[in-house]
Amino acid sequence: MSSQQAVVDHVATIVCSRLEGQGAGHGFDHIQRVWNTARVLQKKVGGDSFVIELAALLHDIGDAKFHDGEERSKEFSTEILQTLGVAVDVIQHVGMIVDNISFRKRQSAEPLSIEGQIVQDADRLDALGAIGIVRTIEFGVAFNQPFYSDDAEDKKTGIGHFYEKLFKLRDLMNTDAGRELAKVREEFMHAFVAQFKEEWTGTSEKQ
Ligand code: ADP
Ligand code: NI
Repeated sequence: MSSQQAVVDHVATIVCSRLEGQGAGHGFDHIQRVWNTARVLQKKVGGDSFVIELAALLHDIGDAKFHDGEERSKEFSTEILQTLGVAVDVIQHVGMIVDNISFRKRQSAEPLSIEGQIVQDADRLDALGAIGIVRTIEFGVAFNQPFYSDDAEDKKTGIGHFYEKLFKLRDLMNTDAGRELAKVREEFMHAFVAQFKEEWTGTSEKQ
């Protein structure tokens, strides 16, 4: 494989075909957005573009949700990158990133390199904003969970998930650039929740 760009393009094609038909917020569209955002963050923050792009593309390739609860992204990434003749140190770095960026692992994860921090921020940003709202709705549809409920206390809901997890992400951002984007996206979600609740209770129609 001649250039790094060719490797990245090749990996994108492989990931696209592997994730085909995988809905519920985890299709190739999610990967493309994380890839784009990671590139935006890299321009502001720095870090090795090649590692960042590969890790962004491969970060959900073996997501535990689709493999009986077992996270296999590192294993699959290594296989793919070895086939393309990528250098061992790059393969190890990408494997380390995809193995350690998930929210679930945040207590036990190993410290992330700047490249890992960028990919983690990009992944978390995709859970926020207008896209984040849509992904939450998609999750609810797939897992038969209501988006909102009056008795929210004893029900898992989409809006409940905003408070349980998504509104915590801004403070967990690694980079200042990521935090700035998270702030804008979170504010949009708060405005959405306020409007949603007004419509739900009918107060927006009252004069
Ligand atoms: P990723 O692995 O890309 O970080 P997740 O697998 O954690 O994302 O979640 C995929 C999408 O589904 C995200 O947008 C997330 O907010 C949403 N989601 C995850 N868990 C829930 C839940 N319990 N209720 C509603 N939405 C959820
Ligand atoms: Ni992801």
